Amino acid sequence: MKAIVCTEYGPPEVLHLRDERKPVPKDDEVLVRIRATTVSAADCELRRFDFAPWMWVPMRLAFGIFRPRRRVLGQELAGDVESVGRKVTSVRKGDRVFAATGIPLGAYAEYICLREDPQTGAIATMPTNLDYAEAAAVPYGGGEALMFLRKADVRSGQRVLVNGAGGSFGTFAVQLAKVLGAHVTAVDSAPKLEMLRAIGADRVIDYAVEDVTAGPETWDVIFDVVRGTPSARMVRRLNENGWLLMANPGFLQIVGARWAARGNGRRVSFAGSSGTADDLAYLRGLVEAGRLRPVIDRRFPLEQIVEAHRYAETGQKRGNIVVVIG
Ligand SMILES: NC(=O)c1ccc[n+]([C@@H]2O[C@H](COP(=O)([O-])OP(=O)(O)OC[C@H]3O[C@@H](n4cnc5c(N)ncnc54)[C@H](OP(=O)(O)O)[C@@H]3O)[C@@H](O)[C@H]2O)c1
Repeated sequence: MKAIVCTEYGPPEVLHLRDERKPVPKDDEVLVRIRATTVSAADCELRRFDFAPWMWVPMRLAFGIFRPRRRVLGQELAGDVESVGRKVTSVRKGDRVFAATGIPLGAYAEYICLREDPQTGAIATMPTNLDYAEAAAVPYGGGEALMFLRKADVRSGQRVLVNGAGGSFGTFAVQLAKVLGAHVTAVDSAPKLEMLRAIGADRVIDYAVEDVTAGPETWDVIFDVVRGTPSARMVRRLNENGWLLMANPGFLQIVGARWAARGNGRRVSFAGSSGTADDLAYLRGLVEAGRLRPVIDRRFPLEQIVEAHRYAETGQKRGNIVVVIG
């Protein structure tokens, strides 16, 4: 099968199209013929090995000490079930599915085996009103945004700020916070603000014009995907019992946020976790009801993965970049 192999940590050019052995499903696995995957900011960070210093040791142990051990990147996908192991019950041969791979990665390929596990396996039939490219963009950004917003128990009438709202994570966070009934303020660069209004943001702010950490305004939940935001100042923008959700914090941001939140009822979370099949089913329901829509910027064929990664790093990306396979 065709796959994109990451031979070393580095720029987009370390990605190469190769012939790899087609995987064979075990008893508890599903073999999927992948039709589409995505290039996320997290894929680019993994490729470059661009992480905050406190994460270097655990990330190198998980992903390869000297060069990538998980050589095929890609964290989410949509495709067709080609065959299933004998213990698999939730999907059948021929189903159109979408899935998050979790730490094993591997979606930049024509085929993947995914475990059907009620706790960790995130594979489910895909929304009937999306094509493969659109469905592929939902599991990772949508699943993680859902997990964070649930942690903060976002409720109707609350005020939610999404900082870095125009990317993959943020466009789902804005829409899911609206589904939960919140009033949403979305912060990003000027070219993305119209799109953010279109997906439901009640208010938009250009970060080059207004520094939300400096003003007097406060929120119940702040969802921050931007690395390097002054976290202690973010905590001071929270209402009492408010939550700061940090998707990509450095060590000093974590310490700063925890210090600023000590003894005053404000709470901080930076731990993400993969979604489950139930989460995917919930997202599918929202998509089919017309309440959630992945924002797709560009589509690239698998053979143009280097161009797709280069584009992802320009900062122009709105929502998601999709890679179409076959
Ligand atoms: N995608 C996921 O599901 C996921 C899951 C877990 C963790 N994460 C982590 O979360 C981070 C964001 O992921 P993503 O996929 O959403 O990235 P993304 O698609 O690149 O989006 C980030 C957004 O933040 C904006 N931004 C940059 N500087 C900003 C600032 N100072 N203030 C406000 N907005 C700013 C960017 O706009 P400009 O480029 O126009 O400035 C961009 O629209 C990554 O580090 C990733 O590893 C992501």
